Amino acid sequence: MRLEELQNTLAEASKVFVLTDENVAMFWLPELKHWLGCEQAVEIIVKAGEKYKSMATVQRVWRALLKNKADRHAVLVNLGGGMITDLGGFAASCYQRGIRFVNVPTTLLAMVDAAIGGKTGVDFCGCKNQIGVFAEPLEVMVSPIYLSTLPEREILSGLAEMIKYGFIADEDMLEVNDRNYEQYILRAGKIKREIVEEDFKEEDSRKVLNFGHTLGHAIESFSHTTECPLTHGEAVAFGMGCALWLSVNQCDLDEEVLVDYLPKMRMLLSEAEWCLTPADVDAIVAYLDHDKKNVCGEHGFVLLKDVEKPVCDQIVPGALVRQSLLELMRYMND
Ligand SMILES: NC(=O)c1ccc[n+]([C@@H]2O[C@H](COP(=O)([O-])OP(=O)(O)OC[C@H]3O[C@@H](n4cnc5c(N)ncnc54)[C@H](O)[C@@H]3O)[C@@H](O)[C@H]2O)c1
Repeated sequence: MRLEELQNTLAEASKVFVLTDENVAMFWLPELKHWLGCEQAVEIIVKAGEKYKSMATVQRVWRALLKNKADRHAVLVNLGGGMITDLGGFAASCYQRGIRFVNVPTTLLAMVDAAIGGKTGVDFCGCKNQIGVFAEPLEVMVSPIYLSTLPEREILSGLAEMIKYGFIADEDMLEVNDRNYEQYILRAGKIKREIVEEDFKEEDSRKVLNFGHTLGHAIESFSHTTECPLTHGEAVAFGMGCALWLSVNQCDLDEEVLVDYLPKMRMLLSEAEWCLTPADVDAIVAYLDHDKKNVCGEHGFVLLKDVEKPVCDQIVPGALVRQSLLELMRYMND
């Protein structure tokens, strides 16, 4: 959909709402309303951060929609990173059994991943994305202009998901770094769209997108109980290191792939305050019990036979999972 078409759609909506967080609002909210030609849109500004990707925040959004008499012909524009596009998509798709929503991603991670593909939801009881639905946005409006205000740490977080595409689908994406990433944004989005088109509800081939996420989500959730929470991309960067180690040990992946990745992993985590130690391994592994990819109580991993050759639903013995965490922690703590 071209900008003009979107402007027309919004002009015809019964009411337009813009959901954003307090950081993004400061930089981009007036500009976006101007660009979309909807200066009258009702603003819903929530607190920033994964901690607020919660049912409590969803209820705030629903209350604002109700208070401002949103009906089924209203549109919610989600302006922000993955926290906002996940939460806003979920809030919109449940309100009055579903109103239309538009994603305007403002982080690199959301531009190449979170805003695309229709997974929406919130964290619940300390576990990632436990409550949610599959729902497609009306449109995803990607513009690198928003990256001009994004902190370096958040750029690195997005790079992790771009490098993931290198492992599972397109080897060239392994060349992405903090100087050249802008030229790969559209390509990354295209890779995600192609994978999602084949299997929207993640019954089969879409699972490859979870490479690095099984342990990544567990590490992310655990890190939020510590003094040094990791971003989503940082946790995924470490989770990919563990997945590569497991792939070498269980799927005969060439060890060189892991060795080449380790300095990249260190770079992706260079802005993080890293405080995970071997004493945390049991607590991290406990989070795996809530992973949505579990099958009959077993943890299903996405591993690699080779670059661009992912294999899904790999059952890995618990001892090996622990060993992968310990090996990668040893590398990080060196
Ligand atoms: N639905 C999916 O398919 C999918 C895929 C990957 C990740 N996710 C989810 O995405 C979330 C992470 O998203 P994220 O990394 O974008 O984090 P985020 O939305 O929390 O944003 C990170 C930080 O950057 C700030 N920010 C955003 N845009 C900015 C800008 N342009 N300028 C300055 N500051 C800005 C935010 O206020 C926040 O403090 C996680 O909850 C993760 O589970 C979802």
